[in-house]
Amino acid sequence: MLVLLALCLVGFAQPSPLPSKHLKPDRIQATSDNEDTWLSVPEIITKYGYPCEEYHITTPDNYILTLHRIPHGKNSKVTPSEVAYLQHGILSSSADWIISGPSKGLAYVLADEGYDVWMGNARGNKLSRNHTYLNPNTSDEFWDFSWHEIGYYDLPAMIDFVLEKTNKDSLFHIGHSQGTTTFYVMMSMRPDYNAKVKAHFSLAPIGFMNHMTSPLMHIIAFWQKPMGLLLNLIGIREFLPSNDFMSLGGNILCGDDSLTQVLCTNALFAICGFSPKEMNGTLLPIMSGHTPAGASTKQFLHYAQEINSGHFRRYDYGMVGNLQKYGSIWAPDYDLKKITAPVYIHYSNNDWLSGKTDVDRLYSGLANVQGKFLVAEDSFNHLDYVFGIRARELVYNKVISLMKRH
Ligand SMILES: *[C@@H]1O[C@H](CO)[C@@H](O)[C@H](O)[C@H]1NC(C)=O
Ligand SMILES: *[C@@H]1O[C@H](CO)[C@@H](O)[C@H](O)[C@H]1NC(C)=O
Ligand SMILES: *[C@@H]1O[C@H](CO)[C@@H](O)[C@H](O)[C@H]1NC(C)=O
Repeated sequence: MLVLLALCLVGFAQPSPLPSKHLKPDRIQATSDNEDTWLSVPEIITKYGYPCEEYHITTPDNYILTLHRIPHGKNSKVTPSEVAYLQHGILSSSADWIISGPSKGLAYVLADEGYDVWMGNARGNKLSRNHTYLNPNTSDEFWDFSWHEIGYYDLPAMIDFVLEKTNKDSLFHIGHSQGTTTFYVMMSMRPDYNAKVKAHFSLAPIGFMNHMTSPLMHIIAFWQKPMGLLLNLIGIREFLPSNDFMSLGGNILCGDDSLTQVLCTNALFAICGFSPKEMNGTLLPIMSGHTPAGASTKQFLHYAQEINSGHFRRYDYGMVGNLQKYGSIWAPDYDLKKITAPVYIHYSNNDWLSGKTDVDRLYSGLANVQGKFLVAEDSFNHLDYVFGIRARELVYNKVISLMKRH
């Protein structure tokens, strides 16, 4: 069994020119007559009658990122004065916020409510898989980043661009999953950004992780140390789960049920789980067309370190590496007390990744936390914050009423 696991995990670090072959989107797309499955984010948004703009920016360390904007609602010509910036989770992209369609997806809901909506894309996802001189197809150096670099470089660069473009001093920041981790990294490492955030909303926050319950993340965490050694030899790479690894997920989590099989062969759902109650079957092919959107192996290893250590801290390079990098044998903790912008936390009972104990610990560590809201639906899971049938009534309406306080 262990040998099998090891083989599976080695498999997921192998480079492959065609990630799509692992994820069977062809089969799914073939049965889908919904064009949203293959249209781009701006194409989908404009198809539904909303304006959309796309921008490319370069980070100080030369990654080229894509930003999307819905500058105003459908029936308006004026750009609203309040900016809402949305940051997606791991293996996701700006597509997350629109996949559910008008009056359901958070980007549309906020545009209808009179916000100027911006959506970031983290380095390494398929919309930000570019660099001024490194080739993501061939360069290991391109993939040598975790969510630390996304929080330290990408998020500040995108926020500065948005503020400059809109001529504003501050904005609302809404993050989901890794989009909350990167917010906490940015704020603790670069506290001058506190002044640029009117309020932050954490949907399924992830800081501490030692109480998460995702079976596949437990497997990755179990193998984190040997995997780390292995990756030192073969290089940190793009996260491309092998067929074997994914069918392991499928066998552990799913029976022969065809709906759950589709989900379990999708890396994102296999890792995060799903609740049939909140799942809109019509959206499945569309989700599969846009996710998983890509990530680096190091992002997962960094989370695996959190699961094993119980710390929310910088990447652990081992004693010698830490001494070189940080001047101490331990990787430094992120200092939550430096996060002085108002923070609102939204969490749920059935979340495989954002465990209640871990959320409580994050909550009590933050310097200016304004509230903690439990989603009033026991089956609500990690991805339901973006794809759930009732995300609007259970989460977004609350977020919007809180935004209006500021
Ligand atoms: C990457 O960025 C370069 C320079 O801006 C651009 O010419 C190229 O089209 C981009 N490649 C992709 C795949 O977006
Ligand atoms: C990387 O590979 C993809 C798919 O083969 C190709 O479309 C893209 O142009 C390549 N990018 C670079 C920078 O060579
Ligand atoms: C499921 O998604 C489709 C396509 O966006 C939509 O028309 C339908 O109303 C959704 N169903 C529910 C129950 O939300």
